[in-house]
Order: sequence, then C-alpha cells, then structure tokens
Amino acid sequence: MTISAVIIGSGRMGRAHANNLSEMPDVRVVGCADVRQDAADALAHEFGAASACDYRELLERTKPDVAYLCTPADEHAEQITFAAERGINLFVEKPLAPSVRAAQAAADAVERYGVLCTVGYQWRYSPVTDTARAALGESPPTMLAGWWYWTIPPIPWIRDRRIGGGQVFEQATHLIDLMRYFAGDVKEVYATYADNAIPHEELPNWDASAVSLRFANGAVGSLHTTYALFPGIPGSNGVDVAARNLLVRINLGGTTVFRPGADPSQTPAPAGWNIDQEFVSILRRNDPGAIRATAREAAKSICVSLAANYSAVTGTVVSLEEFMADPPDDPRIMPVPGAAAGGDPTR
Ligand SMILES: NC(=O)c1ccc[n+]([C@@H]2O[C@H](COP(=O)([O-])OP(=O)(O)OC[C@H]3O[C@@H](n4cnc5c(N)ncnc54)[C@H](O)[C@@H]3O)[C@@H](O)[C@H]2O)c1
Repeated sequence: MTISAVIIGSGRMGRAHANNLSEMPDVRVVGCADVRQDAADALAHEFGAASACDYRELLERTKPDVAYLCTPADEHAEQITFAAERGINLFVEKPLAPSVRAAQAAADAVERYGVLCTVGYQWRYSPVTDTARAALGESPPTMLAGWWYWTIPPIPWIRDRRIGGGQVFEQATHLIDLMRYFAGDVKEVYATYADNAIPHEELPNWDASAVSLRFANGAVGSLHTTYALFPGIPGSNGVDVAARNLLVRINLGGTTVFRPGADPSQTPAPAGWNIDQEFVSILRRNDPGAIRATAREAAKSICVSLAANYSAVTGTVVSLEEFMADPPDDPRIMPVPGAAAGGDPTR
C-alpha cells in the first residue's frame, strides 16, 4: 500500500522529512503547503507534488494518509484539529503547542478523532534509547542530567525568544522529554536563565539556562543549556541517567554504558536511521500502541518547559500539578501567536 503524505510548513524540517519519506519505498509526498507560496512551490517541485498556500485546501484536494506539521508551535492546534477531523494521521514537529491549554487541546483533539499521531521527539524512538533502556532494566533511575551546548539558532524566528519561546522550550524540550521517558512525570521545576554572553541586538533571547527537576518517582534531574557556543563540539548534547552502579550516557550518536570494573560499552546509532521510518512502519501496521511520543506525552513535556520559563521569570519553584491545572497567562513564558508566520512579536 502506498502511503501519501502532505508537508505543511515547507521550511527546514519540512524538507528534511520530505527527503526521508521520499527515500522509502511506497511512500509519496503528494503535497507541500506553506504560507509562503514560493517555499511551498520549491519543495513541491522537488517531489512532483501539488502545492498551496492554504493547507486546508491542499488537504481537501489531496486527501493524504498523513500530514506532517512542520510549522511553528502556535500553528499546530488548529492544523491538528482540521486534519484529525478528516481522519488524516499526523506527524507534529515539537514543540506541540505554545501554551498549557493549547497543548492539552491538541492532545484532546488527537484522542477524540482517534488518528495515529506522533510528535517529533525522535530520541524516544531511537535504537540508542532502546539500548539505554535495556541497560537500565528494572534499576530505578535516581539522577538524570541533560545538556545542550549550542550556537545562535540559524532560523531567525527561533532566535527571538518572543517567537521561538527560548532554548528550553524550543530545543531542550527534546532532553526534558527523554528524561521523562526514563523517569516519568515531573513534579517540581526551578530554573534560572542568563543573557550574559551575547548582546540583545544579536540574540533577543536568553543565552543560558540551569534547570532543576524533581520527578514524581523521587528521582532528581538537571538541565543546562546555552546558545553562547558554536557547532562542532563533540558530545554537545545528551542525557546521563544514573542508577545503582550504572551510568548510561545517551546522545543521538550512540549510547555508552559505564559499569564498575568494566570497559565502557558503546553502541553507535545505526547509520541512516530516522524517525520517519519508524512512523511509516506504525502507519502501515496501524499500530497505535507503538507510538512512543503521543500528543498527550508531548503535552506534558512541553508543559515542563513552560513551567521552567515561568520559574525563571518569577524566581519561584513551580509545582507541575498546579501549573497545569491553572496555567498562568504570562506572555513572557510562551511564544506570541502568529509571530513566526510574519506577525508582530512586540508586546
Ligand atoms: N525534531 C527536531 O529535531 C527538530 C529540529 C529542528 C526544528 N524542529 C522543529 O520544527 C519546526 C519547524 O522548524 P524549521 O526549522 O523547519 O522552521 P522554518 O522556519 O525553516 O520552517 C517553518 C515553515 O513553516 C511555514 N509556516 C508558518 N506558518 C504556517 C502556516 N500556518 N501554514 C503553512 N506554513 C506555515 C513558514 O513560512 C516556514 O517556511 C519548529 O517547531 C522546530 O522546533 C524540530
């Protein structure tokens, strides 16, 4: 059976997923949408696909098996509902949504219409994560530490925290989600952010973060990130998980397991692996149970990032339960709706 896919948001990630999909047998990219017609046309041309400015018109016309939402987070909720109502399966790039309420609404819509939906938290599906889980076995994690040493984001709207939401929301959400995959729900967050290294005119964003996490199962976690560095630093992102006499170090390049009295055991990631192969296989098997990054899990993960932003701007320890039950409507912690698609980010 040929699987047909429409790409919505024909930018960097839209192109990356379209390329992955086009390399798979019996998968066709049948349409590309973008609010910028030239971007939609250019990507569609590469794959002999239809193109449109209006994703709704394109979905109605092409009726694909799956829509890939590669748009900024604030566009997702409406796009998810429109596609799910029509029975179209969904791949949604992270972050799922710009606010607690929008994230919960997006997860509700996916569950109401029963479509297959994954969020693009690829670490959950990676074979390197399976290796880490196998090494941990039944040992309860007691400490998790994530880091992301990065540079000024190349995509202009991601650079601006009013539009991109900041590094902990936009990028390190991957690490928070992976920590949650190992240790479960987060109970409390405390975060401090800095902007010491790069002038505001060059980077209208925080340039560093230090985040403390307490998990509901009693484990502790920490996350530190920066945009002040440069690409090419070996091991520039990853997650450590510590259990009794066991350290598991995971990044997309591979997993290393440290045990007392033994050489570290290294398992590299398989060459050419990507999340689209996993999701297409789930679509072919119609296997909702194999979805590891459900919209509901992704909603919880992005709420931790939003809670960290809230902690950083208020200087308080944030209880996730209270934060999610009664989300503060604080514009400093979430991206401005519509700004990434050309709206005005000023408040
Ligand atoms: N999973 C990963 O590892 C990973 C890596 C990088 C980026 N991302 C995520 O992918 C998303 C897209 O990032 P990107 O780097 O491709 O950005 P981008 O700016 O290159 O692409 C986004 C595209 O969406 C278009 N767009 C905006 N609103 C739209 C709408 N309503 N309808 C149709 N098109 C619309 C824009 O014009 C743009 O072309 C971001 O949320 C980012 O966090 C994920």
